[in-house]
Amino acid sequence: MIEVLLFLMMKPGVESTAVGTVTFENPDYCAFTGSSVQFKCFYNYSDEETVRKTSWYKGEMKDGTMQRVSLSLIPSYQNRWIYRGDYQHNCSLELHDLQDTDTGYYFFRFDTNKYGWRSKGSLYLSVTELQATVSPQRVRVGNTVTLECKTTCQLPIVWLRDGHRVTKSQFRAQAEDAGNYSCSAEGPNPKQSHPVALDVWYPPINVSIEVSGGDMLTEGSSVNLTCNSVANPAADGYTWYRTAASSTSSLLQVGSGQVLTISPMEESHNGLYVCQAKNPVGQNNSTMVLVAVGEEGINRFIVLGIRVLGIIVMLLLPLAVVCAWRRSRRSTAEEERASNDYENITVTEFK
Ligand SMILES: *[C@@H]1O[C@H](CO)[C@@H](O)[C@H](O)[C@H]1NC(C)=O
Ligand SMILES: *[C@@H]1O[C@H](CO)[C@@H](O)[C@H](O)[C@H]1NC(C)=O
Ligand SMILES: *[C@@H]1O[C@H](CO)[C@@H](O)[C@H](O)[C@H]1NC(C)=O
Ligand SMILES: *[C@@H]1O[C@H](CO)[C@@H](O)[C@H](O)[C@H]1NC(C)=O
Ligand SMILES: *[C@@H]1O[C@H](CO)[C@@H](O)[C@H](O)[C@H]1NC(C)=O
Ligand SMILES: *[C@@H]1O[C@H](CO)[C@@H](O)[C@H](O)[C@H]1NC(C)=O
Ligand SMILES: *[C@@H]1O[C@H](CO)[C@@H](O)[C@H](O)[C@H]1NC(C)=O
Repeated sequence: MIEVLLFLMMKPGVESTAVGTVTFENPDYCAFTGSSVQFKCFYNYSDEETVRKTSWYKGEMKDGTMQRVSLSLIPSYQNRWIYRGDYQHNCSLELHDLQDTDTGYYFFRFDTNKYGWRSKGSLYLSVTELQATVSPQRVRVGNTVTLECKTTCQLPIVWLRDGHRVTKSQFRAQAEDAGNYSCSAEGPNPKQSHPVALDVWYPPINVSIEVSGGDMLTEGSSVNLTCNSVANPAADGYTWYRTAASSTSSLLQVGSGQVLTISPMEESHNGLYVCQAKNPVGQNNSTMVLVAVGEEGINRFIVLGIRVLGIIVMLLLPLAVVCAWRRSRRSTAEEERASNDYENITVTEFK
């Protein structure tokens, strides 16, 4: 009876002096596949005890119950964990090259010369991928694109396009939005997702005509007109039009294909040329380009000019002669008057 009482009285005392505690500085870790993590951990025990053994456990489900299995007994952890703690109060653990299967509960246990102490609670590690999705990946200009970053970690995420910050995760696609997108988690272990390409389709722009052979076209020569444009996907259909110089209103279809070859060049080919470039998204036209047999035209202009000049000269010659005679008479009269003035002035000056 006395013995029992003694036992009951002593028990609380024994417990209060022998309190083993394990403290996880952070009970929740989130880390990315392939990265490393350090669990910060401290443990306490009574002064009379000396630590003999420490070990970390992973909680594994077996037959519907969670069982603690020492990391040293799990093959997949081999060479991937380092005990960064000591035999005093530090029980930190480092895990490297994290794998998806490392996700789960972790426990710490230490054995002193007197007792074995287990952490009451556990810490949870979540190993996650950082996965970028761009939907849709191929879009027509003006349509909406949504960026999504899949991860279970509650970490601040930023989006990058070809290494540059992107501020919006939803936008109407413009041609310049095309590129490789990845999401990135900042923090002590920065991580970037695999890139995902966004392709933006747009109709041809900057459609222009390139004329081979320079400005001077001679009759009978050959000339190539090339239709250049910027488009995604590249333009795959071309139509050529010409307006005859005489009638500016009607467009005449004169060919197809990126290069229009005019050979031999004749006066009847003179005109304003337009090319239309087409891709699966749409079509657009170049500005008009004047193509004309140059030298011939200039020659004709010169000949015409001389003829017109000749007629004018013939018609105006008699008139011109009369005018010239009258003007010469008037100018002599004016000369006289002018000299008089001069005389007067000089006279005045000498007075
Ligand atoms: C650990 O134990 C010491 C005394 O042994 C005590 O001073 C300290 O407050 C304890 N720390 C924790 C976290 O329990
Ligand atoms: C103790 O814990 C810290 C983390 O808080 C760690 O950096 C250190 O290496 C640990 N080990 C020793 C022996 O100090
Ligand atoms: C995107 O990545 C692919 C291959 O990974 C590369 O061929 C392409 O040039 C990249 N695009 C840009 C805009 O950097
Ligand atoms: C289209 O032409 C303009 C003006 O010449 C130029 O600034 C622009 O860069 C061109 N666009 C493309 C996609 O080449
Ligand atoms: C045609 O191209 C010009 C630039 O070259 C562009 O401003 C215009 O929007 C385009 N038109 C269409 C219908 O795509
Ligand atoms: C026009 O293009 C053809 C082939 O596409 C080439 O043989 C010819 O020399 C070119 N003519 C001129 C005037 O550039
Ligand atoms: C380009 O010209 C063709 C022929 O005149 C016309 O049918 C078409 O609408 C024009 N396209 C644009 C974008 O202006």
